[in-house]
Parts: sequence; C-alpha cells; structure tokens
Amino acid sequence: MNILSIATRPFVGQRPGTSGLRKKVTVFQQPHYLENFVQALFDTLPDRAGKTLVLGGDGRFHNRAAVQTILRMAAANGFGSALVGRGGLLSTPAVSAVIRKRAAYGGIILSASHNPGGPDGDFGIKYNISNGGPAPEKLTEAIYERTQAIAEYRIADTAEPVDIDTLGTHSLGEMRIEVIDPVADYAELMQSLFDFDAMRAWFAAGHRMRYDAMCAVGGPYAKAILEGMLGAPAGTVVNGEPLEDFGGHHPDPNPAHATELIAAMSGAAAPDFGAASDGDADRNMILGRDFVVTPSDSLAVLAANATRVPGYRDGLAGIARSMPTSCAADIVAQALGIPCYETPTGWKFFGTLLDADRATLCGEESYGTGSNHVREKDGLWAILFWLNLQAATGQSVESLVRHHWTRFGRHYYSRHDWEGISTERADALMAALRAKLPSLAGAEFPAAGKALRIEQADDFAYTDPVDGSVSQRQGVRLLFAGGSRIVFRLSGTGTEGATLRVYLERYEADPLQHDQAAQEALAALIEIADTVAGIRSHTAMPGPTVIT
Ligand code: G1P
Ligand code: ZN
Repeated sequence: MNILSIATRPFVGQRPGTSGLRKKVTVFQQPHYLENFVQALFDTLPDRAGKTLVLGGDGRFHNRAAVQTILRMAAANGFGSALVGRGGLLSTPAVSAVIRKRAAYGGIILSASHNPGGPDGDFGIKYNISNGGPAPEKLTEAIYERTQAIAEYRIADTAEPVDIDTLGTHSLGEMRIEVIDPVADYAELMQSLFDFDAMRAWFAAGHRMRYDAMCAVGGPYAKAILEGMLGAPAGTVVNGEPLEDFGGHHPDPNPAHATELIAAMSGAAAPDFGAASDGDADRNMILGRDFVVTPSDSLAVLAANATRVPGYRDGLAGIARSMPTSCAADIVAQALGIPCYETPTGWKFFGTLLDADRATLCGEESYGTGSNHVREKDGLWAILFWLNLQAATGQSVESLVRHHWTRFGRHYYSRHDWEGISTERADALMAALRAKLPSLAGAEFPAAGKALRIEQADDFAYTDPVDGSVSQRQGVRLLFAGGSRIVFRLSGTGTEGATLRVYLERYEADPLQHDQAAQEALAALIEIADTVAGIRSHTAMPGPTVIT
C-alpha cells in the first residue's frame, strides 16, 4: 500500500467543544478539513501502532464519506485494525461498549448528537479513549494545539472504497478492517443488566410502549431489543430508520422537539410508556401517559430504585450529576448514605469517577443518563431501566415519580435557552454577570409576598477528586436560601452564534404543592434571572427560544 503525505495548512477554530468538534457539514466538506483534525488526533496518540480503533457514527449526511477517509488515514498511521459498524453506524453508547468489550485502544464517533443533519445541517467528530469514554480535556486541548501547527497528513493511496455494508473482514494495506453488527455487543450488555424475562412478560400482558427513534441511529438498537428480544409489537418503534437528514427533524428528545411523541402519549388510549432518543442515541426522554419526566427526576428515581434491577442489585457506590442538573439526586444519595458528586457540564467529567468506582449512576439535565456499564450516557439503557422498573413494580411511570416526590420532595425544574445571540452580546452578558458576583450574595428579591435571598453567588469551579485536575469558569450560580438555584452558562456545542442556557430550580417538600405547572412554580426565579443578568436588554430578544 502506498502512503501519501499531503501538505496542508492549519484551519482556525478546530477546538473540540463540550462534546467533540462540531461544525456545519459545508465546513467539514472543505478539502483537508476533516483530514487535518484526524491527523492532529492521531499525532497525539504516539503509541497507536498496531492498535485497534473503533469507528462509527449516527448515520447523518457525510458519515459514509468520512468513514472512508478515516479508514484510509488510520491505515496510513499504523493502526493494526479497525472495527467499523455496518453501514458506518454505531451509536455513541455502542462505541463505548465495543471499545470496552474488545479492549480497543480508542474510537472515533461521527456525530453532532442532536443537532439537525443533512447537507445544510451539522457534522461532528469526537474521540473516545480506551475506557470507552470521551477524551479528557487534556487530550482535546492537545489535539487542538496540534491542529494549529499541522503541516501534513498521511493517507493511504487508494480510490477504492472499503465495503462497509457487509459483515466480515477486509484489509487496507497492513490494517485489518472488521465490519461488525452495530447492535450485537450492545444488546448483549443490556441483557447482562436488565431482567429481560420480566420485560417480556410486561409486553405479553398487553402493556404498550412508543419509542420514537427520531429517524436517527437509535432505531436499529430499539427494534432489535424491544421488538426483537422483548417481543414488543411491531410498530412500537416509530421513526426507526436512520436517515441522513433525520427526516428533516431535529433529533433532540425534549418537549420542544419531540412534539409528535408528546401528542401520541396524551389521552386514555395512549400507550403506557413513551420514550425517545437523539441523533447518536445517547440522550433519552421518558414519558408516562400524559406525564413527562424531567431528566433530573429520572436520575433520582433510577437511583432510588436501582436495587430492583439485576445490574444494580448490590446498590450504588455513588451518584454524579452535572452542576446545572437539579439536586433531586443529592437527596436520594443522602438517604442511601452514598456520595453525590457535582461536576461541570459534559459527560467527560464523569469518567474518572466511574473508573474509580466512586459513582455508579450519572446524569445531566440535558436528557443524559447513564451508569458504569459504559463511559457515555446511554439513551436506550435509561429507557430499558424505566421499562424494567415498571415491569418489576407493576407501577406506571407517573406513579413511580409521584411516589418519589412524596418521599423525597419535588424539584421543580426548567431550562430556558436563548439561542442565536451574537457572540459579542453573549460574552458581554456573562462578563457583566461575573463582574456583579461579589455584590450578589445576600441580595434579596421580592417573590409572591416573600423575599428570596441569594446565599451564595459564584462561578462554578471543579477539582476532580480522582486526578486533581481543575476546571474553572463552568457557569455562574445563584444559590438561594431554601435550595432554589439559578445557573447561567453559555453552550459549548453550538455551531452558530451563542446560546445562553438559564437553569431554574425550586425545591418543594410539601406533597400538597406538587401539582403546579413548572413554569408557574418557577415564575419568581424566571423574573429574578432576567433582573440579575439583564438578559432581555443584553440580547434584545423578547424571550427564550426553547423552554424545556
Ligand atoms: C449540551 C448539554 C450537556 C451535554 C452536551 C453533549 O452541552 O447541555 O449537558 O453534555 O450538550 O450532549 P452545551 O451545549 O450546554 O455545552
Ligand atoms: Zn447525543
């Protein structure tokens, strides 16, 4: 095999964000753009020779072309073998599972997660290390630095595409390529964690579920496991064929984008259980009949009931949640006598805690839930966990959550996104807010006849308790007396302008007060957020663009 060394020049802005490098497809289609990033990645892995690389993506537009390029570059950069999901498909949690099961060196995931796809949509690439988890910041920063100095990349000189649509083995020069069933390893792992007999009996007894795969990569996994192994009726999985443009939909499972599912889950004839996953199937949304579960509550309920599920029968070592996620999990951890860790936003911060067996379950308010079975959040895993709980207890989703609130109290929660702000305005808002921080502690705001007092106002900083690494400036927090919180941070995953995320939370212990609509229960905090941060004046926007 002839290896070409192609001269190139750095592109600005190839710094991975919260979850890999995400840009418009048209940006990735520029000559050398993907190649530069992949070579920079390989250059930061000096001991890659002869090692195994896992490769797959969520099937969005440009996935197939990128797989071919990366295979040719992996061969030219000395990898010993590549494991590729058939059709170039692998969900994010499946990549993590395959890396772990096959003791691979690492994996490349081609995905922009829940961002829209298609020729005008987004594309992305992220790297996972040998524990199956996202590359830590140290590595992503090293990759970025390398992209700024790159002068050439290496690629196998072959125009012949590798057949990635047939299971089996190929070779590209010295490198062996194995096309694997994207579902098999993952399904086996799920069987080792959940009570498949109980879930089969639940469906056999006539219970019904609707799983919306949002025309993304979760479809094949859900079909194989729910309709195949668990005997759910055909049609349980809807939008189950992965499409390059996700059928024009926004594959983000939340009340703002999964409107079709919310509608289908309403009324007496609705299925018992509703669920959805995102582009790369690492996010999940959980619904009962006429009932939507917040991701923060989902984590807390799973933690409180974990021992009802075979994989967690022996209990949890600890729980970890991202800082903006509600404190519902903290109360459960307290009751269980286990630690609850508060980490910055992004799954990569859970890796060390999972590896050190300090945390068993992890979650983020952004519809991400997972455990130590892999090192990514895992959409279908969370959905199977909820299914297993319903099968084991005979309770509905709504009754599981209401019991939970009665026992632990309810954390009213909402996130307001202000999208498409110019970067200058968003930076100015955050700078002004940070400058104000010292004056905010002790400030009082009138709310419904009472006063709400800020007890602590800071910019969240995190020291990883396992490896000691420090992450600063992870979001501005206003912590109120009584447990209410407002958090402000800018998104690190967008591809256009800036998105301000405002996270709002209020604790209510009294069961008689558990039936309010979230936006009403949070009205005072919503107003305070605008007063303190001057969101409307900084952005010149009339209101948030997405409320979840
Ligand atoms: C968002 C979510 C975050 C999640 C990430 C990747 O990041 O808020 O919780 O880990 O997507 O799915 P953000 O855009 O806020 O930086
Ligand atoms: Zn995702």
